[in-house]
Amino acid sequence: MSAPKDIRQTALDLKTQIIKHNELYHGQDSPEISDAAFDELVGKLVKLETKYPELIDESSPTQKVGTGFTTFAPVTHRVAMTSLDNAMDENELRAWGERATRGLAGTAMHYVCELKIDGLAMSIRYENGQLVQAATRGDGAVGEDVTANVKTIGVIPKKLLSKIGKKIPSVLEVRGEVFITISGFERLRAAKQSENERRIANGKKPDAVPANPRNAGAGSLRQKNPEVTATRDLSFWAYQLGEVVGAPSFSSHTQTLEFLADLGFPVNPEVKKLDTLQEVVEFCANWEQHRHSLNYEIDGVVVKIDNLAQREQLGFTSRAPRWAIAVKFAPEERETILLKISVSIGRTGRATPFAELEPVVLSGSTVSMATLHNRDQVQLKDVRPGDTVIVRKAGDVIPEVVGPVLSLRPKNSKPWKFPKLCPCVLKSTLVQIEGESDTRCVEPECPFQRDQRIIHFASRGAMDIEGLGEKTVFALSDKKLVNDIGDLYSLSIEQLMQLDGFAELSASNLLAAIQGSKSRPLAKLLVGLGIKNLGPAASESLARRYGNLDAIIAATPDQLSEIDGVGGVIATSIAKWFSDRAHRTIIEKFRRVGVEFGNVIISTENQSLVGKAVVITGTVEGFSRDEAQDAITSRGGKSPGSVSAKTFALVVGSEPGASKLTKAEQLGIPVLDAKGFRYLLKTGQLPN
Ligand code: IVH
Repeated sequence: MSAPKDIRQTALDLKTQIIKHNELYHGQDSPEISDAAFDELVGKLVKLETKYPELIDESSPTQKVGTGFTTFAPVTHRVAMTSLDNAMDENELRAWGERATRGLAGTAMHYVCELKIDGLAMSIRYENGQLVQAATRGDGAVGEDVTANVKTIGVIPKKLLSKIGKKIPSVLEVRGEVFITISGFERLRAAKQSENERRIANGKKPDAVPANPRNAGAGSLRQKNPEVTATRDLSFWAYQLGEVVGAPSFSSHTQTLEFLADLGFPVNPEVKKLDTLQEVVEFCANWEQHRHSLNYEIDGVVVKIDNLAQREQLGFTSRAPRWAIAVKFAPEERETILLKISVSIGRTGRATPFAELEPVVLSGSTVSMATLHNRDQVQLKDVRPGDTVIVRKAGDVIPEVVGPVLSLRPKNSKPWKFPKLCPCVLKSTLVQIEGESDTRCVEPECPFQRDQRIIHFASRGAMDIEGLGEKTVFALSDKKLVNDIGDLYSLSIEQLMQLDGFAELSASNLLAAIQGSKSRPLAKLLVGLGIKNLGPAASESLARRYGNLDAIIAATPDQLSEIDGVGGVIATSIAKWFSDRAHRTIIEKFRRVGVEFGNVIISTENQSLVGKAVVITGTVEGFSRDEAQDAITSRGGKSPGSVSAKTFALVVGSEPGASKLTKAEQLGIPVLDAKGFRYLLKTGQLPN
């Protein structure tokens, strides 16, 4: 069947776009579209070419690996550096497995599963044990000479030595992936951002900030000055051989990896040899879930057939081996349209800009909003309504706008201006306070702040009122049923039944949850009041020391500041809060309805963490976020939100924030896993 004219045109358009974006990605390290959008373009072209094979010719990007871009000297690979075919889901992985089984006429096979490192493929050549050349993949046939830069990477051996006394091959090409660590990327990004803040302050245009670790790694490798490369946290995992002369012969990939490890190359420890495709599927699912527990980025799993004779039998297609497949994870970055930039008002009046987006599925969930952090960030990224933007959602973190796709910017677009007025009905002025990066609404009557204060009061870390989430609070507010947190306890079942979606049972459940919260511990009530600077640890100390809310109200700032962990700033802030008339009215409403003011639970736990600050990042196995914090505070410790020189230890769970880890590493703060955390809770000591 010959391809109709419009199909030929579509294929041509796709080829042009793919070649352009391939060049931007591989050649200039400044991709304009996300990996997922690129894969989609290739997928469309492959589909057309499969249906109409006449569309395939040598110039088609599906027949090539990348594009050459020579600012560094060209290196012709003696053994071509091929790419891999992708499996985008379990079905495609199983289909690959079935094809391979058929190709081997059903003989038994083993799979080696490796993490797919999101870095840059590199071929490093050794002659008589000496590193003589390092080259990028380029278009698979010709790459770029980046020897001087690769030599600055500490983990890459410059001279080979077998740990078990094996002979060193006269020629050995080792292939693998160069990448930047996530902590290294965070450090680089922070440095670039502060440099840009200085540039903006001096009236200069900001420089490009690398959007993700892959771009940062690629940019670091392509520095003209190797001294700059040496300052970046680059690393390497070896996974393949190129040209080899004089090496022992291997029968499996596993043996190749053992050989590489013997010669001192870093081989990723997470590699696994498996017997069935079902186990492979489980390996992939497990890593997709835990990808953020690593200090480097992975974007999938590479599944390879272990037996080298079987590999030979299967051979290659025009672009990739039949004996391996790259199983890609659901993308964490995608493009979408930024419909509008709005600001949200927090309970303290802080105005946070956020992007309203055309919905996209990221990391398995639909995203229609993403934070833009603050005024300076919007200016730095220069994102504008109408822009096509790259949005990123890594695991459980809040979705973020990485930046605009400039080539798709509408012609008439204008930079976004931070609004001057609060979006609430009162339209009060938003002010940027001297020396603060935040912009705030300072109108105490602002209904947006009021709603957020009620949401905070009902939240898990405070009065923990089940069923009183954001949506219900907005509904109560709309119907003017509550004006402040003191009104919650006077709500009747009839009033709750007026809310959309509430019937008798749901209304009575919510009422019971509200009433049940009257007997929460004093420390939780204090947190719920939302007093500026007063966190859970200081609330706990105040509750223990005073035992009753009235005693705290009666205390002077001097008396309050004597308490360990309270200090002058918090003490003044507490006194100021209680001196406000509106706040005293709230306290009287609480008193009238019987909210307990003196429920102090004295911890039965050992007090092994008194005076110690233990910071948590990520989800610690066996604990919810609140449970982990309670475990620390109930033992007399503190659990602040950030790492400082005073931090006793950092506990790292799954999907940790990279910045806390980086800071702890910089300051030499001990880092513990879940097991270490349990030991610390039990003994108050760091594990050996
Ligand atoms: S094997 C002929 N193993 O992914 C097979 N590649 O999408 C050569 N990659 O070009 C590649 N981690 O840059 C292999 N464990 C791994 C990998 C890996 C990352 C990269 C590599 C490759 C690309 C294919």
